[in-house]
Amino acid sequence: MSHDETLRHLLEDAAKRGIDYREQSVSLSVAPSPEAVENVQRFIEPLPNDGTADLDVLAQLDEIGTPAAVGMTGPRFFGFVIGGSLPVTLASNWLAAAWDQNDVMYEVTPATATLEQVAMEWMIDLFGLPADTGAAFVTGATIANFSALAAARNRVYAGVGWNVEADGLIGAPPISILVGEEVHPTVIKGIGLLGFGRNRVQRLAVDGQGCIDATRLPRIEGPTIVCTQAGNLNTGGFDPVGDICDAVKARGAWVHVDGAFGLWAAASPDLAHLCNGLQAADSWATDAHKWLNVPYDCGIAFVRDAPALKAAMSITADYLITETRNRNPSDYTPELSRRARGVDVWTALKSLGRSGLAEMLNRCCSNARRFADGLAKAGFEILNDVNLNQVLVSFGDDSRTRRIIEAIQADGTCWCGVTVWQGHTAMRISVSNWSTTFDDVDVSLEAIVRIASETQ
Ligand SMILES: Cc1ncc(COP(=O)(O)O)c(C=O)c1O
Repeated sequence: MSHDETLRHLLEDAAKRGIDYREQSVSLSVAPSPEAVENVQRFIEPLPNDGTADLDVLAQLDEIGTPAAVGMTGPRFFGFVIGGSLPVTLASNWLAAAWDQNDVMYEVTPATATLEQVAMEWMIDLFGLPADTGAAFVTGATIANFSALAAARNRVYAGVGWNVEADGLIGAPPISILVGEEVHPTVIKGIGLLGFGRNRVQRLAVDGQGCIDATRLPRIEGPTIVCTQAGNLNTGGFDPVGDICDAVKARGAWVHVDGAFGLWAAASPDLAHLCNGLQAADSWATDAHKWLNVPYDCGIAFVRDAPALKAAMSITADYLITETRNRNPSDYTPELSRRARGVDVWTALKSLGRSGLAEMLNRCCSNARRFADGLAKAGFEILNDVNLNQVLVSFGDDSRTRRIIEAIQADGTCWCGVTVWQGHTAMRISVSNWSTTFDDVDVSLEAIVRIASETQ
């Protein structure tokens, strides 16, 4: 076989295996069988001295790996906040992987750098952000939060005459960082990575949906960053970002919004009211691998003051083409070498269009509502206001709730996670997958109600 024939054969074999998996994932049990999980031990071996034929490597991957894959991409995975990768984005991801572009500099990868720029501009438009907002395409909301806060750190210190990029934090003027009581832990991690100290944050009081109470903000003194969120991971609630901006921006504070999934609400006319006012903030983080349903991994940081993001991230070196009239993707990201994530975002938005995106977002919310109504009707307590795609349900006391969730996960009809929220142990249902239908919700409801009735 020639080199070309081998390549074609190998890639076609991989495509066939991938397609088979995706076709079956609709009907497969969401949870892999215990035997399949046990079988992954077969991967564990000393590094072989001799190589293995490529087709055999792929066959082993499929034979052992596929049965042990959790049905995260299927329509009945409701754990965490997990999107399911639209088929066209899986396809574009495969194509872009074949291109294997290192999406660092426009001059070297003009196609992917342009696609990233177009995807960025489309999202800026969808979210109603200022047209000259800068953006970084990164692994996910964790690093998007980190990147946006690095820009905040740059600008807030510059405001008091300190060049934090050059001089670091030793001897820097003090700074205040305010977060909501229910801030996502990855924001705290970003604060730690930036050298501020995870414990030095001031936590702001929240209301019954976990949202910052804008009437109880402390007085802002000196350089300050306020971290808000659009889409509480438990309730789906939105901090009143507009009110917070009104209260703190006149005193020079930087307001950041963690909108890992919630920011997408701005792209649906039916949900956009939830995002009213957040456009006044200074930076925003979101994920495309959650509600936009592109393959892992893909998050985006947006920063109103694009030069602040660039000042925090860009580098120069004699061997890099950093002087260009075009946008260099890596001027805005923590990494230098990176895959071309913008391709998947561009593909999803081009394929869905404004109306298709809004319809997908609305459908997830209707499905969440259907879950909440069905569970309430069956006599279980819904703990949150279901205004988005998140549902919190209690089955009674904490240990019974946990036993029921474990049984639901083992049953395999659907997968839902556990959380402890405002003192209650609850099951979290997050409807984020493009392919979930009313039927999927009904089948899942039936299983949940049956399992709950069988569990003491
Ligand atoms: C509100 C919020 N912020 C940040 C994150 C972290 O996102 P990622 O895991 O994509 O880094 C999540 C993940 O669920 C989230 O829900």
